[in-house]
Amino acid sequence: LAPTVTLSNGTAVPRLGLGTSPMNDADAERAVVQALEVGYRLIDTAENYRNEVGVGRALKGVARDEVFVTSKFNKRWHSVDGARAAFEASAERLGLEYLDLLLIHWPNPDQDQYVDAWRGLIALREAGLVRAIGTSNFKPTHLQRLIDETGVAPEVNQIQLSPLWTKQENRDFHANHGIITQAWSPLGNGRGLLDNPTVTAIAAAHDKTPAQIVLRWEIQLNAVPIPKSSNPTRLAQNLAVFDFTLTDAEMATLSALNGTASTPADSDRFGH
Ligand code: A2P
Repeated sequence: LAPTVTLSNGTAVPRLGLGTSPMNDADAERAVVQALEVGYRLIDTAENYRNEVGVGRALKGVARDEVFVTSKFNKRWHSVDGARAAFEASAERLGLEYLDLLLIHWPNPDQDQYVDAWRGLIALREAGLVRAIGTSNFKPTHLQRLIDETGVAPEVNQIQLSPLWTKQENRDFHANHGIITQAWSPLGNGRGLLDNPTVTAIAAAHDKTPAQIVLRWEIQLNAVPIPKSSNPTRLAQNLAVFDFTLTDAEMATLSALNGTASTPADSDRFGH
């Protein structure tokens, strides 16, 4: 099992989990069953992925309190009542009575209702329906507004993070406000990161795979990576990153890949 990190409210979150985008219900069910078998205890889904039913089927194979389940909701639910309805719909699809973590999937600043969604999440946590609440793809300005208007900071902000996009400003803000950084597309999502000579050289030096080096970089930044894999060997490989340490020089070399991707980050392309 992965070690855990403790949220500001005392909830323990595994330091690495399984991402499930893009997987359909059948793929997600298979991957989550395999992930649970090899020791994953953090499973990340979203309304938007349309696979919560498949994830929920797989979760029947594990005691509820042994797994940490995250979901996220879309912009049509950005109101106090909407957040409650989004929770109920996700919980129903997953077959769960409570969620460990529920996130606002995108700030959608053009719509400008994410503070209302946040008030809805605060109420859900008070009602005991979700153990922890947070955001995804929020920039520091969005996070600051939540704090200014409600006095409550997210426990987690999930962002696209890898050596290709190191998000220093985001991570500094998180560190200053006790917000845990979760990393989506932590392997660079097919942008050549795992073939990058800098990464493969460090992998050879540690007798690890490029994916393990990149995930270890994220863990040493105190981020929680949620790599996606549908392959049993790679699922196990991605979890086996707690038995070695990158040097400060290796960390810096990997961070220097920031901005070298040939295409922009998805989170930038989406305009937030
Ligand atoms: P697969 O599902 O066949 O393993 P990200 O999480 O950054 O979005 O990356 C997901 C992609 O990386 C998927 O295409 C996944 O393919 C692939 N992948 C996952 N784990 C590994 C690994 N250990 N080595 C190489 N590719 C991987």
